[in-house]
This record gives sequence, structure tokens and C-alpha cells, in this order.
Amino acid sequence: MTKQLLLGQTLGFSGNPLISDWADAVEFDSAGGVLIDGDRIVTVGNGAALQAAHPGAVVTDYGQGLISAGFVDAHMHYPQTGMIASWGKQLIDWLNTYTFPEEARFGNPGYAADVAGRTLDLALAHGTTTLTSFCTIHPESVDAFFDAAANRNMAVVAGKTCMDRNAPDDLRDTAQSAYDDSKALLTKWHGQGRAQYAITPRFSPTSTPDQMAALGALWSEHPDCLMQTHLSEQHPEIRWVKELYPDARDYLDTYEAHGLLGERGLYGHAIHLEPREVSRLNEISAAVIHCPTSNTFIGSGLFDTLGLAAAGLRIGLATDTGGGSSFSMLRTMAAAYEIGQLRGVALHPAQLMWLATEGSAQAVHMKGQIGHLNAGAWADIVVLDLASTAAIAQRFEKARDIWDALFPTIMMGDDRAIADVWVAGQRVT
Ligand code: GUN
Ligand code: ZN
Repeated sequence: MTKQLLLGQTLGFSGNPLISDWADAVEFDSAGGVLIDGDRIVTVGNGAALQAAHPGAVVTDYGQGLISAGFVDAHMHYPQTGMIASWGKQLIDWLNTYTFPEEARFGNPGYAADVAGRTLDLALAHGTTTLTSFCTIHPESVDAFFDAAANRNMAVVAGKTCMDRNAPDDLRDTAQSAYDDSKALLTKWHGQGRAQYAITPRFSPTSTPDQMAALGALWSEHPDCLMQTHLSEQHPEIRWVKELYPDARDYLDTYEAHGLLGERGLYGHAIHLEPREVSRLNEISAAVIHCPTSNTFIGSGLFDTLGLAAAGLRIGLATDTGGGSSFSMLRTMAAAYEIGQLRGVALHPAQLMWLATEGSAQAVHMKGQIGHLNAGAWADIVVLDLASTAAIAQRFEKARDIWDALFPTIMMGDDRAIADVWVAGQRVT
């Protein structure tokens, strides 16, 4: 098969810049090259040297474009694409007013297929090559998403959202049907092509202890699956969890008591954690997912990126569409930066890019496979135009180094900054 050689500025990582000096974790080459054979990256190195060594490779020269691993969104809700940016509510009211009525439409396979395809195309247009998505309670919504991802050869993580209380009649399953449907879906999809299944209790308030236990049992029967849920997002939610689970030590304990705490668990938001929850998440090596545009949009609070990284937690970054207000991981990085500033820390562009690629990939247990600009990884790649608008270009012209050149695109960039996208070695834009 013909090899592809992408030339430009290349940015990858050899370590985690949240817990070591960022300069030691970065692999940057202002005249780099990425050699692709089939669906994989085979070498990342000096562009001219790679061109000389592989004269038969088809060359795409991006000039000063920045070649990075494609962005990995570690938590989102594809069924909420149609109600993103809905005004005026905080979490529980927002769910009841906007989210549940929209999610009720996904029993219709045609509607689900339409929104799934639209969401994946929006993701690609924003440079995101992997989505980790909640679906709805309808098995049809899960099939629609995995089908649409398979058509695009995208690596995705998803699962049927389970709810058997505190939700409208047409959005409730039962403990038994949640177990049965999830089992059938994970048998059908987990490991099929690039699909990974995540057992998905929405959050403790919408599952009875019986449903939590049934899903915990399912996870213990299929420990290679992921598990995704929400944790400690807003204070009224946390108070509600305490009322519903009076014997639990804290919010995390509602999951742990039912077999839903594990290394392959993904806990979205995780803003208002008790010290016990932090140390338990660390002991178990579970991942927490930072959803910064959602946390400001719904008014949830300020995630402690560096504090939780220093405590040993694995952290991914996510849009949380449609609680989040953007499909763009650039905008998501910008919001993570702004939240850092409100906590008194300035996250470095290297740390932000790591979160959007390696951090999220590691959170979803695909380290070295995606989010990784290095030999052996899937050739899922985004190329950033660092001068995509007049406002960014005039700032780019004054940049002193790559970080100064990249930071305006992180803060002000959107889909216009996406020069090109590759998925599994195929150019998609
Ligand atoms: N908690 C439970 N469900 C949801 C949801 O759909 N979005 C957000 N942001 N938080 C949740
Ligand atoms: Zn969510």
C-alpha cells in the first residue's frame, strides 16, 4: 500500500506534562514529518529525512500547520446535539426542561441515525476523531451511534444510558431491562471494529440501588468494558444523592457500594470531591473527566486540574455536549485555561493539548492507540492552521515560539482552525 507522508510542525508527547516539567514531556519538531502506512502511524521524525528515506510516499505539505494527534472527547452526549446551548437552567432543571424531552425522541431509529451522523461529522469538522458518548435509554440510539461511527471508521466509546427512576415515564427502563439490553448491546458492539462499549448508569439519582447493582454485576461479568457516569457536578445534585442514599459515605460510595467503581470507570465532572473520594479514585486508578465549558455553562464549579493530577488521578478532557456549549476541543481547552485562572493557575498550552489528546486517550484506556502522535498509533490526526482568522493571524505573526503561536488558536480558534483531519490513515476533510 502507498505510504502517506505529512509534513509540517509536529507535536506529540513522551510523558504527562501535568505531573512533570512540561518541557520534558513534549516532542516538538518545527520541520517534522508523520509517515503513515495503511491505518497506522509508522514513524514520526524529521520531515526531510523521512522524505529522503521514503521517496515513494505521497507527500502532503502543511507548511507551518501544526500536526497533532486527533482530539479525543472523553465525555459527551450525542443525543443532546439538537438542544446544545439551551438557556437559563442549572443541572436538574436543565435535564427536566431541555434534555429529557429531546432524549425521548431517540426511540425512533431514523432520528437517532440522523443526529448520530450529524454529531460525528461536527466532531470531525472540529478536529475530534474519537467521541465517548452517552446514548439514551433506547437500544436503537446505541445501534445508531455505533453504526454511524463504523461508517466513518472512527474509534468511539458509547453505551445505553440507564435510568429507572426520577425520569419521565417514556425514559425509564428497569433494573432487569437495563441489564438485559446493556448485555445484548455490549455483546454486539464491544471490540467490534473500533467500537468500545461503556456500561452507562446516567447518575445515582436516576438509578435505583437495584439497577446500580444489576449494572455492577454486568460490569463484573464483562470487566474489559468501560463504565461511564457522572459524579459530584453540582451542590443540589450532591445533596439529592445524600437523601437518596442515606447510608453512603459520599457520592462516590453510591457507585462503589454497587460494584460501579473500577479502574475502567470514567467519572464525569468530579468537581466537588471529598478528600476520601479523591484518595479512593486514586487507589482504584479510575479516571475523572473535566468538562469545562459545561461546568461554566450550567454553573457547576471549578474543576481542580492540577490538584487532582498531583493527587495521582488520571484526567481526560471533554465537551460534555450539550451541557457543554461547544463541539470544539479548542474552545474546551480555552475554558479549561479560564477555569485554571479562576483557581489561580495558568495551564500551559502543552498541558492543554496533552489533556485533549493523550490525557483523554489514557482515560478511556486507549493509551498508545489514539491521541498519540507516535509509531504504532492509529493515524487519527488533526492539522491546525495557526493563523485561521484575521484576529488570530495578526497575533500569530508576533509569536516568539510554538507555544506563543499555538495559544491564540487554543483561546480564539474554532472549526476554521482545522486545516485537515485524518481518520485511520484516510483524509476526511
Ligand atoms: N448528570 C446527569 N445527566 C447529565 C447530563 O446529561 N449532562 C450533565 N452535564 N450532567 C448530567
Ligand atoms: Zn454528561
